[in-house]
Amino acid sequence: MSTDTTARPWVPEDPTVPRLAEAAQECRGCELWEDATQVVFSTGGERARLALVGEQPGDREDQAGQPFVGPAGGVLDRALEEAGIDRGAVYLTNAVKHFRHEQRGKRRIHQKPDLRHLVACGPWLEAELSVVDPDVVVCLGATAARAVLGRAVKIGAERGTVHDDVAGRATLVTTHPSALLRLRGRGGYDEAFAAFVADLRTAARAADEAKEH
Ligand code: URA
Ligand code: SF4
Repeated sequence: MSTDTTARPWVPEDPTVPRLAEAAQECRGCELWEDATQVVFSTGGERARLALVGEQPGDREDQAGQPFVGPAGGVLDRALEEAGIDRGAVYLTNAVKHFRHEQRGKRRIHQKPDLRHLVACGPWLEAELSVVDPDVVVCLGATAARAVLGRAVKIGAERGTVHDDVAGRATLVTTHPSALLRLRGRGGYDEAFAAFVADLRTAARAADEAKEH
């Protein structure tokens, strides 16, 4: 893999979210487009004060072309509702815009993106965050945190507090809703869900406070 694996040449110089979403359809910044159905870009508008960043689209998102419409999206919807956050008012995106997976028979098994995919796809996320300029960015899980903060993050150690990242942007890391799904039926789900909701509330409060200033 060459070191110039990057989405950069596809990112428009005068970005708006719709322009970015359209340009991303053509992205060949890494190999992940080859086996995916389509780019999954984002939902939510440029006026959103809260941005949520996931890992990458899953099987259902790849088919629908929308982020968080599968099982993890269901958990996220319930958590947002319980936190009193309107999903339509947040900017929702992913660190990587194509579904990385392995074909096993008829099944497509999710594969975590590698660091090189985060780096390749990073110019999209960077452009989105600079256009939307949210008051708070919520990183859903370690992959998103790595993409946004540019370093390895242990969610358990860093979750739940709002910090400024190197660019001075207020950022909070929390668990990924898929991690909650894995706890289902194994105990600990209710507590983990409540902690996730509490983190979302903390982020929403920080965004509200930023608005007042
Ligand atoms: N998981 C993610 O990180 N993003 C999605 O869009 C769906 C599942
Ligand atoms: Fe481009 Fe990102 Fe898709 Fe790779 S995953 S082809 S960098 S949009």
